[in-house]
Amino acid sequence: MATKKVKSGSRIARGAAESVPTSIAIAIMAAGKGTRLKSKHPKVLHEVGGKPLLAHVIAAAAQVVAPEHVFVIIGHEADRVRDAVRTTGVNFVRQEPQRGTGHALMCAAPSLSAYDHVIVLSGDAPLIKSETIKRLLEFHLQKKAAMTILSAKLSDPTGYGRVIRKGKSDEVQAIVEEKSCKPAQKKIQEINSGFYAFSVKGLFDNIERLTTANAHGEYYLTDMAEVLRKARQRVAVIPTENPSEILGSNTRAELVDLDRTFRREKASALMAAGVTIFYPDTCVIDAEVEAGPDTVIEPFVQLLGRTKIGGGCRIRSYSVIANSEIGDGVLVRPGCVMENAKVAAGALLGPYSHLRPGSEIGEGAHVGNFVETKKAKLGRGSKANHLTYLGDAEIGAGVNIGAGTITCNYDGVHKHTTVIEDGVFVGSDSTLVAPVKLGKGAYVAAASCITQDVPEDSLALGRSRQIVKEQWAKQKRSAAHADAKVSK
Ligand code: UD1
Ligand code: CA
Repeated sequence: MATKKVKSGSRIARGAAESVPTSIAIAIMAAGKGTRLKSKHPKVLHEVGGKPLLAHVIAAAAQVVAPEHVFVIIGHEADRVRDAVRTTGVNFVRQEPQRGTGHALMCAAPSLSAYDHVIVLSGDAPLIKSETIKRLLEFHLQKKAAMTILSAKLSDPTGYGRVIRKGKSDEVQAIVEEKSCKPAQKKIQEINSGFYAFSVKGLFDNIERLTTANAHGEYYLTDMAEVLRKARQRVAVIPTENPSEILGSNTRAELVDLDRTFRREKASALMAAGVTIFYPDTCVIDAEVEAGPDTVIEPFVQLLGRTKIGGGCRIRSYSVIANSEIGDGVLVRPGCVMENAKVAAGALLGPYSHLRPGSEIGEGAHVGNFVETKKAKLGRGSKANHLTYLGDAEIGAGVNIGAGTITCNYDGVHKHTTVIEDGVFVGSDSTLVAPVKLGKGAYVAAASCITQDVPEDSLALGRSRQIVKEQWAKQKRSAAHADAKVSK
């Protein structure tokens, strides 16, 4: 095994003795349709851990070389694929039409010819680790091979290309695709991962020798093993240390398996960082989620997108939290739904609170059961504990929002803002017709319909006066009684 380490960036030292730098590119094949998924979406945009397959592969590649040396080969739904990962700073190469993995590399030849070596990755195998890519590259350089195949030993190799070694050596005779395997070859458990390293010269001097004489009538990149061997060039193989890393996602079942593997690893990483996750297999935690130490995540919780949770929080069961930020020491009781919301330290939510986009819950604030917020700021220590809708609202500190309060923010055409200043007390069952402002320290009597601004420290009553008709009920009952006697 080579002792020299592959540095990030495209240029790495060829060896201690030589000072000539070697330039490395990474090509990611992502032009295929993914017919076996039976989907209208391109395969590489299907998700594992809430993130497109291709984005995982790009992230691993970008830890080996800088993004400007990564070339993603796109074809089917090319614009959609490019748009989904454009922010990563990688390059794109078009393959039109898609005539197989070998053809994909033919299309990338003009971009890759300036490099010494190219690592080829499959855009549909998202669990690949950068360390494994580096091991493949180091081995390839050490072996001075024209092609090096990353292989894996699988108990069920069905569907994968099989690696035919030259005897027991680490050199390869050929890769045989499942459909072309003879019965004896089908028993070979060492499969082609779809990840390779090539010397650019070896690859492009010989790639024209590929033919389409196979089951799919495509140019198979795998046939380069035999082509290069016949050209008397070295084809090496190195097995992965962790076979689950190379699994592809050709079918829905494989996709779901990969998702499970990914999320298990994600949960383990969070637990290693001090987060308790009870029954982690029941939780859905996306790739980018962060959580601080001593946070406890109960069963059946979903943490999605770029959700960030502080330390010492408790997220109780059946809460679904997407792209939200939660401070330290927050208690989320069962059944809360949050999207693009911010919750400051020490706040208390739920059960069954619904925080829609633009909700900002202040430090120590309480949002209780069946309370919905949208574009609403609730200041420090304020409370909206029961059955309330707060939309387009700016609410200060120390405010009490009584049960059943509704901000009427929509007039059928436009949205309007309700401003509630510090220390306001809104009595239960009030409707606040926006635009309206309740001044500092004001009181709103229960069941009021507030259509005009309320000045500071005032009381606003917006309901009809109560009428009492004494003895009315008693008289009604005796009249009913008399009627019943007559009709008997
Ligand atoms: C491929 C290998 C197989 C290997 C397996 C590992 C070939 C012929 N076979 O099979 O030996 O065991 O990967 O997962 O290579 N793509 C293009 N352009 C094309 C066709 C495909 O860019 O014209 C891309 C796809 O989008 C995909 C990748 O190449 O990301 C692999 O293609 P796929 O059809 O999934 O190959 P497999 O059948 O899995
Ligand atoms: Ca595949």
